[in-house]
Parts: sequence; structure tokens; C-alpha cells
Amino acid sequence: MINKNNTIPIASDHGGFEIKEYLKKKLIEAGYNIKDMGTYSIDSVDYPDMIHPLAKSINAGEFKLGIILCGSGNGAQMTANKYANVRAGLCWTVEQASLIRQHNNANIISIPGRFVDEKLALEMVIKFLTTDFEGGRHLTRVEKISKTN
Ligand code: RB5
Repeated sequence: MINKNNTIPIASDHGGFEIKEYLKKKLIEAGYNIKDMGTYSIDSVDYPDMIHPLAKSINAGEFKLGIILCGSGNGAQMTANKYANVRAGLCWTVEQASLIRQHNNANIISIPGRFVDEKLALEMVIKFLTTDFEGGRHLTRVEKISKTN
């Protein structure tokens, strides 16, 4: 559960731009503070150019939770997960958005803008922002994610 006083960064490429704009509007209406880190039009761009700055800010602890989008959600998620303190989860159902918080302590939700509609995207984001990590056995597992040797 994130406090509404916490700012939530959001970023997308052109493939996620329209849903990003919808999410930004609805989340602001709901009382959240949103930092839009681009892109700012439907012109074609390279998703790492928007996703790296957002992931860096989460990695540095500047923001607690963030939202990223691209067409499939995969390029954005792969870019974000390059950072040691980032756990970005790709979601296309509300249950997945809950599970990436409950079980994986995800700090970024990645949304496939070309495969979900606005309503589902908003429902997933609200679930992501309002669900807590369960800890316990899931903490043990999450701690093993970074152990690559
Ligand atoms: C852009 O056409 C598309 O490749 C991008 O949005 C994303 O799906 C990449 O993973």
C-alpha cells in the first residue's frame, strides 16, 4: 500500500503512450501525485530512453513504486530489471498485479499497452499500488533473485 503523498513516476514509449495519458489523468483525479517521465507524444521513440531514467530513480530509492508501459510490456520490463534494486513485473490481469506485490515485492509494474484496455490497466495499477508484500517465505525467495552464483 503506497501513501498518496508518495510521488509515483510513470513512463512509456509510443506503444504505451495513450494508456499512460489515461492512467495519469485517472490517478491524479484519485489523489495520487504523478511524475510523468515521458514519452510526451505518439511519435516513435526507443523505450530504453524513457525507462532507464525511471528505473534509475526507483533503484536509487527516490520513489517507492513506479509504472512503465510499452507495446508488449517486455522491452520496458527487461530494461527496468537491469537495476539491482528494481523488481519489475509484467501484468495483464488484476490478479498478476496483486501477486507481483504479495509474492515478489515488485516496485515497478510493466503494462503491455497494445494488449490491455484502459479500464484493465487502471484496475491493475490500483491493485499494484494498494497491495502489500507478504514477506515470510516470499522474502526468502525474493532475496535469492539476485544470487546469480
Ligand atoms: C514498439 O514498436 C515496441 O517494440 C515496443 O513498444 C515494445 O513492445 C518493446 O518491447
